[in-house]
Amino acid sequence: MDVPVVRSRVDAARVRSVLDAARVLSLDSGMAPRRPSPAGASRRPVLHAVLGALAAAVAPPTVARPGATRGPAVQIGLPPDAVAPTLRAVAAQVATLLARLPDAERMPRTIERGTLVRVAREDWTSGFFPGLLWLLHEATGEPAWRDAARRFTRTLEPLRHFRDHHDTGFMLGCSYGNALRLAEAPGDRAVLVDGARALATRFDPRVGLIRSWDHGRWAYPVIIDNLMNLELLTWASRESGDPGLLGIAVRHADGTLAHHCRPDGGSFHLVDFDPASGAVRARGTVQGAADRSTWARGQAWGLYGFTAMYRETRHARYLQQAERMARFVIDHPRLPVDRVPFWDYDAPGVPLAPRDASAAAITASALLELASLTADAALAARARALAAAQLATLSSPAYFAAPGENGGFVLRHSVGALPHGAEIDVPLVYADYYFVEAMLRLGRGVRRG
Ligand code: GLY
Repeated sequence: MDVPVVRSRVDAARVRSVLDAARVLSLDSGMAPRRPSPAGASRRPVLHAVLGALAAAVAPPTVARPGATRGPAVQIGLPPDAVAPTLRAVAAQVATLLARLPDAERMPRTIERGTLVRVAREDWTSGFFPGLLWLLHEATGEPAWRDAARRFTRTLEPLRHFRDHHDTGFMLGCSYGNALRLAEAPGDRAVLVDGARALATRFDPRVGLIRSWDHGRWAYPVIIDNLMNLELLTWASRESGDPGLLGIAVRHADGTLAHHCRPDGGSFHLVDFDPASGAVRARGTVQGAADRSTWARGQAWGLYGFTAMYRETRHARYLQQAERMARFVIDHPRLPVDRVPFWDYDAPGVPLAPRDASAAAITASALLELASLTADAALAARARALAAAQLATLSSPAYFAAPGENGGFVLRHSVGALPHGAEIDVPLVYADYYFVEAMLRLGRGVRRG
């Protein structure tokens, strides 16, 4: 398959000079401290200047438009008092997107060649826009967001019987799950329980995992992303009193731990199983750079998914796996100074490869929850610091769209499926969703269950 080459216009000499300056300040090895010592504090303007200059040289990561803003004010970490104004700016931006939508039947996903892409409810991303509206209701308390969220959520009601792929957890969890949490209406619980039961039909006990897709060349494909759908099952198990749903979630998470996770904390995207024996047929990737690479968003889903499964079950093995995946990210030598990962941790062409803002947003949200659950205080501090740094960068003009631009989406520079030439350097609705979730978590200082 042809992989389109997307290059940023980067001034190599400038990158080198900034990196040299950064080395002088020992910034090239790991995170800058969240609370600098007094000596560090006096250096802070210099550090900011270096980070800002580096980000200006390296990001925006892909094709630069003539006249595009190139000088983001990257901060070391987003201070909590920046959360409220940022969320206000998000609300203003999403209001412009909402105003462009003719109806609540199809959901905005991205923009393609300047045109808004709206998807049907069966698309795996259909829950994120209603979810984003719910989170803005949570952030602002304004009833108008609640009413809009309810309108778009209702569109997804037929998904309670959906069995065609594994993403019911995303679709119903972000829409009806947030509805339940913030403004429950009669019938919400039944939709979620039905949806969980429909998802559970995709579990084959011989394999011990939920089958992700029915299409493609695989016998029984399971992608790491599927961990994100398990919370629907654990919740529905409690709600309905059916221990079988919890059992499926635990078996699936255990199977993912055994087959998708590497000892170094990295992850495979897709594992194909023999449906008769449950044996692994192959490990590979669909959206990553190579079969053995660690695709940045897959790693984020894994980190988030194991953290959530630990919260849901308190099984220590899930916490340990989430910690391993967090360390892989935090310590990764190719995590850029502005902390937004390249689209794959093994992407060719670094530092010119596209970044993935969606991976950064999901990672930041997961790290904030992990920091509240881990007993390792040093890891918690490093996780919070990385999340705050990622959110600072995403809030800067390098990623955060100017009012009314970017088709009404909030974040620029995400990657959907680069090997397929699809959605490269675009806004993606799930980047915005997890960005807002992470901002709410940062503002609250604690996890949201
Ligand atoms: N779950 C599909 C994706 O992350 O692209």
